[in-house]
Amino acid sequence: MKAIAFDRYGGPDVLAPATVEVPGPGPGQIRIAVRTAGVNPLDHKIRRDTVREHFVVTLPHVPGIEAAGVVTATGPGVTDLSVGDEVFGRTVTGSYAGQALAEARHVARRPATLGWAEAAAVPTAAETAHRCLHELEVRKGETLLLHAAAGGVGILATQFAVARGIRVIGTASEANHGLLRELGAEPVAYGEGLGARVRALAPDGVHAALDGAQRGGSLALSVELAGGTGRVVAIAEYGEAARHGVHFSGGSDLDLMGPALEEALTLHRTGTLRLPVHGLYALADAGLAHEESERGHVRGKLVLVVT
Ligand SMILES: NC(=O)c1ccc[n+]([C@@H]2O[C@H](COP(=O)([O-])OP(=O)(O)OC[C@H]3O[C@@H](n4cnc5c(N)ncnc54)[C@H](OP(=O)(O)O)[C@@H]3O)[C@@H](O)[C@H]2O)c1
Repeated sequence: MKAIAFDRYGGPDVLAPATVEVPGPGPGQIRIAVRTAGVNPLDHKIRRDTVREHFVVTLPHVPGIEAAGVVTATGPGVTDLSVGDEVFGRTVTGSYAGQALAEARHVARRPATLGWAEAAAVPTAAETAHRCLHELEVRKGETLLLHAAAGGVGILATQFAVARGIRVIGTASEANHGLLRELGAEPVAYGEGLGARVRALAPDGVHAALDGAQRGGSLALSVELAGGTGRVVAIAEYGEAARHGVHFSGGSDLDLMGPALEEALTLHRTGTLRLPVHGLYALADAGLAHEESERGHVRGKLVLVVT
């Protein structure tokens, strides 16, 4: 089966075509023929070996944690999905591959109206957004400061929050302010003077903050504006979160994957789900997608077309 893998850590150039075997699905699992695979910053962090304390992989490693595709086999105990069903969700094995395994409870059926590229882009961003809003216990009428609002997580966190009646102040470069406004957020440019710009919108501070950037002092500012670390969550960098005494939400258990996919599907059914696909790449060009991801200015998500 064709795949992209790396057998040593390093730059995007270590990604190379590979042939890998995917076993039959175990209990509760399905195997899918991957049509599209989402690219996440985690994929290049693992490739550069910067997160080994938290994500242990064995080499050679096939990257990718999310996909959309067609069920080709079901394991014992899977009763609600059948061969031929079109699904999207989190994968157990690398999704930069023609076939991948997934836990049946971590996928959802793909509505025909949700494109293959968008379907592969949704799972990780949706799960992270849903989980962080849950952990922050942010409620209707409250104000959320959201850093990296134009990334995949930020765009879905904005939509989930706005739909719940939460006011979102989202940081992004000017080029993304129009998009954020359309999604219902109040955009703020990051960089020098960020604190003053947020304070101008929220003179009494914010109720909670989700930091997907952790750049340019964003985390310290979040703690200050939220009145302490209690309702601040960081998702980008473990070490810095620990230094500030801020909870790092790592998503090691995926209990909220099902509800998160459902939250995204609910928005999709009402015609309001938006997750721009910043770039669509052939599987063989996964290295180019990683280069783009590492530049740090992806609007929405990058997606690989696998088959
Ligand atoms: N812990 C978890 O469970 C978890 C899950 C998913 C993702 N993550 C992490 O969360 C982070 C965000 O991931 P992602 O996939 O949403 O997007 P991403 O690709 O990491 O971020 C892209 C966005 O970051 C924005 N950005 C760049 N510099 C910024 C700054 N100084 N302040 C504010 N925004 C800035 C860019 O906006 P402009 O183009 O406007 O500059 C761009 O839209 C990554 O570090 C990722 O690894 C963690």
